Amino acid sequence: MCLQIWHIVSASLLVSSSEDDYFRCESVVRNWADASSERGIKEDELTLKDILFFLHVPRTGGRTYFHCFLRKIYTSAQECPRSYDKLRFDPSKPNCRLVVTHDDYSLMSKLPKDMTSVVTILRDPVDRVFSTYEFSVEVAARFLVHPNLTSVAQMSRRIRPKSRAVSTLDIWPWKYLVPWMRGDLFARRDARELGRLRKTEEFSSPYDMEDMVMPLHEFINDPIAHDIIHNGATFQVAGLTNNSYAVESHHVRSCVRKHPELGHFVLEVAKHRLDHMLYVGLTEEHRKSATMFAKLVGAQVLSQSEALNSTFKQETSNQTEPSSSFSDSEADGLNQIEGSTNNQSDSEVPSSTHVEPARENMTVGRLMEIYETCISSLRKTQASRRTLSLKRVAPANFSKKARLSVPATILQQIQYLNSLDVELYKHAQNIFIRQEKHIMQSAEIFIQPEDLQTADCGGSYGCPPWKSLLVIALLAIVVLIMLFLSTGRRTNKVKK
Ligand SMILES: *[C@@H]1O[C@H](CO)[C@@H](O)[C@H](O)[C@H]1NC(C)=O
Ligand SMILES: *[C@@H]1O[C@H](CO)[C@@H](O)[C@H](O)[C@H]1NC(C)=O
Ligand SMILES: *[C@@H]1O[C@H](CO)[C@@H](O)[C@H](O)[C@H]1NC(C)=O
Ligand SMILES: *[C@@H]1O[C@H](CO)[C@@H](O)[C@H](O)[C@H]1NC(C)=O
Ligand SMILES: *[C@@H]1O[C@H](CO)[C@@H](O)[C@H](O)[C@H]1NC(C)=O
Ligand SMILES: *[C@@H]1O[C@H](CO)[C@@H](O)[C@H](O)[C@H]1NC(C)=O
Ligand SMILES: *[C@@H]1O[C@H](CO)[C@@H](O)[C@H](O)[C@H]1NC(C)=O
Repeated sequence: MCLQIWHIVSASLLVSSSEDDYFRCESVVRNWADASSERGIKEDELTLKDILFFLHVPRTGGRTYFHCFLRKIYTSAQECPRSYDKLRFDPSKPNCRLVVTHDDYSLMSKLPKDMTSVVTILRDPVDRVFSTYEFSVEVAARFLVHPNLTSVAQMSRRIRPKSRAVSTLDIWPWKYLVPWMRGDLFARRDARELGRLRKTEEFSSPYDMEDMVMPLHEFINDPIAHDIIHNGATFQVAGLTNNSYAVESHHVRSCVRKHPELGHFVLEVAKHRLDHMLYVGLTEEHRKSATMFAKLVGAQVLSQSEALNSTFKQETSNQTEPSSSFSDSEADGLNQIEGSTNNQSDSEVPSSTHVEPARENMTVGRLMEIYETCISSLRKTQASRRTLSLKRVAPANFSKKARLSVPATILQQIQYLNSLDVELYKHAQNIFIRQEKHIMQSAEIFIQPEDLQTADCGGSYGCPPWKSLLVIALLAIVVLIMLFLSTGRRTNKVKK
């Protein structure tokens, strides 16, 4: 039903727009695409350059990479200024080497291109939309401790100037999504009270509880979602978000919105960009992605910093354990209201200070151990904050299992609205396989025994099948050679 309506709507849009407009738009988009897919600079794509640009697509798990990998191997002195806290930042800090942000690819125009390696993580588009919805509700629900929106505004005026830390609310796309959802949650406040009294909704889908929260189908059909969520990964990698640095981006965006069949130009640019990245991870393949990140990126950061060792030798001392490192305080002031003594924040934003990494003797295997400890503590914190926050909209509660209650038509609609992202994700899956092969090949040349033990085959990391195969193959070759030698000797003896 919804899909059909959508088809009719987009068809009528097409009819109403003149042919002229279409051809003008086509040339705008085509010109942009040609200019964006610059050729050349092919060599050394797998070598880490001076600057690492982590293009963080929202809700792909990039935050854990930032806290649990990058902050373990980069010092705060190496982090480019205000990466993350303001999207439109000025990378003026000399010699900074790490840029982590929700900014789109057009940020490259501010960075020395030949000296910058880009990495990113992609996620199945349907899951990403679910996660965006859930996170918007989660963050917005925290404000329900306030009696009304006036009081929210007063509080943030009081807290913000004092706090140097960054709030989720400063960050694209949350700076749009959270206030929108927050306003909606306050508007539904009375309905929620009544709904709770009636208790009739206990067993219905949490994604469709009109009395409690904006239902998912309403969320995905809002113009804001069209602006910044749907096909968001493709637009971000292409450098065409509504937060872009590129002057022509607004024009190209509006053309593609008006004429969805021009979307393939954007998709091709995004694919091309992924092809040239140092690393592409997949949220779904979490373990493999993390191991691959440690090997493809982590190892290079470590050897790079060894070369630079003398510069920041002094920074490697005075180390405490990882879990305390995400003490970014949240500027929305909720911790204060709740009388909580913990300053931990669930915002997506790291603050500018952190526990300095001990990179002495750091190996890929050790990095993976640190990552594991860090991520499990990060997840615990996130889960408890989420539970606490969602209590305020109970009985609405989100979980993987509850997602099964969402009707197939809505899932199809999400896929349809994200058809570019669906294609981009498939492309990323192919790149992922290629990266795996590459690691396998370099491992054959250069097997690090300690990696075999600590990173891949030890503890919670299952031994990847290819490594066992490699060992078996090597053993087989050795056995064959020995057989050959001994038969050779025997025949020699017989001849004598
Ligand atoms: C909002 O809450 C504040 C603090 O409780 C109260 O003083 C104010 O009157 C409320 N405003 C409205 C419009 O209800
Ligand atoms: C980006 O999209 C949001 C949500 O629709 C909108 O509020 C905001 O004004 C847009 N920003 C720009 C620069 O167009
Ligand atoms: C590290 O800690 C020691 C004492 O534990 C202190 O003397 C030293 O100044 C600290 N170094 C830095 C860089 O903070
Ligand atoms: C929280 O931060 C405040 C200042 O921002 C500080 O005074 C307080 O000690 C911190 N509490 C904890 C538990 O770290
Ligand atoms: C760092 O450099 C110093 C000499 O400046 C050297 O003694 C030390 O072993 C180096 N450390 C690492 C981890 O390379
Ligand atoms: C690092 O390795 C050196 C020798 O290779 C050793 O003396 C030192 O204790 C190690 N440091 C740590 C923190 O393990
Ligand atoms: C919501 O679900 C989570 C598990 O998915 C559970 O831990 C939590 O207690 C639930 N919250 C409420 C308010 O029922």
